[in-house]
Amino acid sequence: MNGRRIVLGVSGGIAAYKAAALASRLVQRGAEVEVILTEDAQRFVGAATFAALVRRPVHTSLWERVEEIPHIRLAREAEVLAIVPATANTIAQLAAGLAHDLLGNVALATRAPLMIAPAMNTVMLEHAATQANLATLRARGVTIVEPGVGFLAEREHGPGRLADEEQLIEAIESLLRRAQDLAGERVLITAGPTREAIDPVRFLSNAATGTQGIELAREALARGAEVDLVLGPTPLEPPPGARTIRVTSAREMEAAVRERAADATVTIATAAVADWRPAVAHARKVKKTESQPAIALEPNPDILAELGTRKNGTFLIGFAAETEALEANAREKLVRKNCDAIVVNDVSGERAFGAVDNALVLLWGAHGRRDLGSGSKRELAARLWDAILDLKRQRA
Ligand SMILES: Cc1cc2nc3c(=O)[nH]c(=O)nc-3n(C[C@H](O)[C@H](O)[C@H](O)COP(=O)(O)O)c2cc1C
Repeated sequence: MNGRRIVLGVSGGIAAYKAAALASRLVQRGAEVEVILTEDAQRFVGAATFAALVRRPVHTSLWERVEEIPHIRLAREAEVLAIVPATANTIAQLAAGLAHDLLGNVALATRAPLMIAPAMNTVMLEHAATQANLATLRARGVTIVEPGVGFLAEREHGPGRLADEEQLIEAIESLLRRAQDLAGERVLITAGPTREAIDPVRFLSNAATGTQGIELAREALARGAEVDLVLGPTPLEPPPGARTIRVTSAREMEAAVRERAADATVTIATAAVADWRPAVAHARKVKKTESQPAIALEPNPDILAELGTRKNGTFLIGFAAETEALEANAREKLVRKNCDAIVVNDVSGERAFGAVDNALVLLWGAHGRRDLGSGSKRELAARLWDAILDLKRQRA
């Protein structure tokens, strides 16, 4: 943590005193810690305690040293924003994007990863409003260090107790590691379906939306990579900052990938490229009154296999969307297409294309396997990049 800049937000819960111990541990590890106390946090612990521990002034108001525009300075300098403890109120504020105090403004104005450690009474934690707010934040990619079960201030035993200090430090370290660990990498990602024209208004396609590829691109950008995204037809917006090339058909995707592949240090092929296309794409709309058409198909280019034949030092990761014999089929594809690793994506049942949640497993070599678990596609993008980097370092 040496020299790394952590902004520690403390909100007004009984566990605020534990944030002082955390601040001290972070400083002992060499971090530069800027503390923001909400107004109500100061009812629990005084600013002097934090100022003495972190050896710098503590921030308590949006309206102090206004000439420095402190919320923007803190937001820009932060490498991680950690909110410990996060009250039900602060969690609601974050979920709604409210900015009436310093912490709310910094949270909105920063690009740094956000970690929150909720701590509160069990009923408050389990309330539908709190749970909905946590789900909103989780879907946005916020790291939530779940509260533990234990003895609470109101002399009850139950979930809601602030996570242990070790867990909090581990989560902050993991976010710091991520902060710029893809700097210098040039990443090429394909995403979305392709459309293969039957006539000017009809096409063959599939149900892919490109969400997982877009999330991988977003995460790579946040971690410092340059990103080329070759995106098939989808209503979803690509992340700002990616160089996005929009394509429609598999052949267009092939051409865009060829153009960009040589420069890539990591290529991830998530696109669900149509295996076949109509042999004839009619120039005019086929009329209903014409005799019932038969559509002859011909194979599309195999973009992943092509990437595998001319890897040129790039680390190549394929995606295998399977509905049966998942891992056996994926391992066969891994070898056949000369990938460095392959991600198994179960697209049967609830986790079909377009779902919010996903479950992924990474496979490599003859027996290499890492289960990335299930979760939102954004969470899985972060876990997949962690796994890819570990694997790449092992191979280096
Ligand atoms: C004694 C006492 C203890 C409290 N403990 C908690 C708590 O552990 N978690 C929580 O979410 N709210 C707790 N609250 C309520 C918050 O202090 C209150 O919602 C406050 O407005 C939070 O403001 P903030 O989120 O801006 O810091 C407590 C209130 C009191 C009076």
